[in-house]
Amino acid sequence: MSFSGDFSGKTVVVIGGTSGINRGIAEAFAASGAKLAVASRSQEKVDDTVAALKKVGAAEAIGAAFDVRDSDSVAAGLKHFHEALGDFDVLVSGAAGNFPALAAEMSVNAFKTVIDIDLMGTIHVLKGAYPYLKRPGASIINISAPQSYLPYEGQAHVCAAKAGVDQITRTLSMEWGVEGIRVNSVVPGFIEGTEGAKRLAPTPDAGEALRKDVPLGRWGQPQDVANACLFLSSDMASYISGTVLAVDGALYQRGSGKFGQMMGQMLRSMKKG
Ligand code: COA
Ligand code: NAP
Repeated sequence: MSFSGDFSGKTVVVIGGTSGINRGIAEAFAASGAKLAVASRSQEKVDDTVAALKKVGAAEAIGAAFDVRDSDSVAAGLKHFHEALGDFDVLVSGAAGNFPALAAEMSVNAFKTVIDIDLMGTIHVLKGAYPYLKRPGASIINISAPQSYLPYEGQAHVCAAKAGVDQITRTLSMEWGVEGIRVNSVVPGFIEGTEGAKRLAPTPDAGEALRKDVPLGRWGQPQDVANACLFLSSDMASYISGTVLAVDGALYQRGSGKFGQMMGQMLRSMKKG
């Protein structure tokens, strides 16, 4: 068997697919001939992405604007995608929110906001899509983060949320595996030019310090993460489920390291100054 990278005739749904890493994933599936559906809060971003997906080769592309915190809207949006495109072969759940903040300084609502988007959003998306997943054969990919297994100061909310996301991956790989549905997580490293990277390493110096720490010596690109998603959703990965796959140039083999403290130091010095 060889990897064809051909997703013609497949239906791929990417939630949070209108910018950054997730949009890169959606574009990669579109370029491989799939039918695409994308969603995020902003109708403008959805429209822009749908037009781009058609341009790069999607067999069909549609979108909807909804907030993953609202389970009814998520369910309605996914029902609409199913009516338009049929059973889902691939579901990518990647909507997320992040900001650096020390636990003692952030409000309870700030903590809850990230839990609601990243963790509750994931279960809303997966449960909303459940009736429409192809059986057997569907591939679910949750977009996680290194915070799932590495503690970083200033990231208690994200660490808690993404650890939960990966435990959903592991649990549902068993519960839904018996129906022929595979569930995996992909953990991007620091991906150049993205909103997440800008928020966590806001200065060129911080970015360069991080890059130097990557054993492979370069930032990740959205295509690196997209390639992992194409592989995980292909027949080549038909026995891979319940795994958390890091696409990070081996950065996180070094643990939280300097970066684990960097944001805390930055936030404390901002408080003093
Ligand atoms: N530091 C501390 N608290 C913050 C904060 C920050 N930088 N940014 C927001 N908050 C708090 C707010 O003060 C509010 O709490 P409060 O009601 O007690 O004041 C709470 O978080 C919710 O903020 P709000 O702006 O109402 O949320 P929102 O739903 O409009 O937006 C965010 C969600 C905050 C996550 C926003 O940054 C977002 O939309 N992010 C999406 C893009 C993104 O984060 N990309 C990177 C992905 S890794
Ligand atoms: P991004 O460009 O901000 O992408 C986030 C996407 O989610 C956007 O399409 C956004 O669109 C959507 N979204 C946010 N909140 C939403 C909500 N409440 N409901 C519905 N959609 C929502 O961020 P990114 O940096 O590329 O990150 C993408 C994913 O990779 C995230 O899961 C993140 O945790 C993970 N990750 C990123 C990095 C990195 O280096 N960037 C590293 C590790 C992990 P709208 O604004 O229109 O809603």
